Amino acid sequence: MQIGSVKLANQVISAPMAGVTDRAFRILARENGCGLVVTEMVSDLALIFANPKTLRMLDFRNEQSPLSVQIFGSDPETMGKAAAIVVERGANIVDINMGCPTPKIVKNGEGSA
Ligand SMILES: Cc1cc2nc3c(=O)[nH]c(=O)nc-3n(C[C@H](O)[C@H](O)[C@H](O)COP(=O)(O)O)c2cc1C
Repeated sequence: MQIGSVKLANQVISAPMAGVTDRAFRILARENGCGLVVTEMVSDLALIFANPKTLRMLDFRNEQSPLSVQIFGSDPETMGKAAAIVVERGANIVDINMGCPTPKIVKNGEGSA
């Protein structure tokens, strides 16, 4: 399977899950044959303001490529900046969250909004 220029070893892709698909989860998923792992969703503004907790979510030491990073936000300009940041930090794929139904996300015009 191939997504854009990124070749996957197989068609098994981890769903992005906030609070679940952290570094430990991704390493175990890859060790058990997952072809592509995805981070938890990461806020575009938190990336731009270099929030330390958010940057820890982009710690990919000892992780195998390919890696997909999911970002969320509401403004195309800050989403573009955030996409550039995650690619610089090692993302092979940038996944945009367009499905999160959580009220605190939707009320900001993010996720499923
Ligand atoms: C605990 C939890 C957290 C989730 N967080 C995200 C998320 O951050 N981004 C996202 O796109 N989907 C998120 N989802 C949705 C899943 O990625 C997936 O689309 C959903 O569980 C449906 O897949 P399934 O039919 O295989 O269960 C989450 C789901 C769960 C259960």
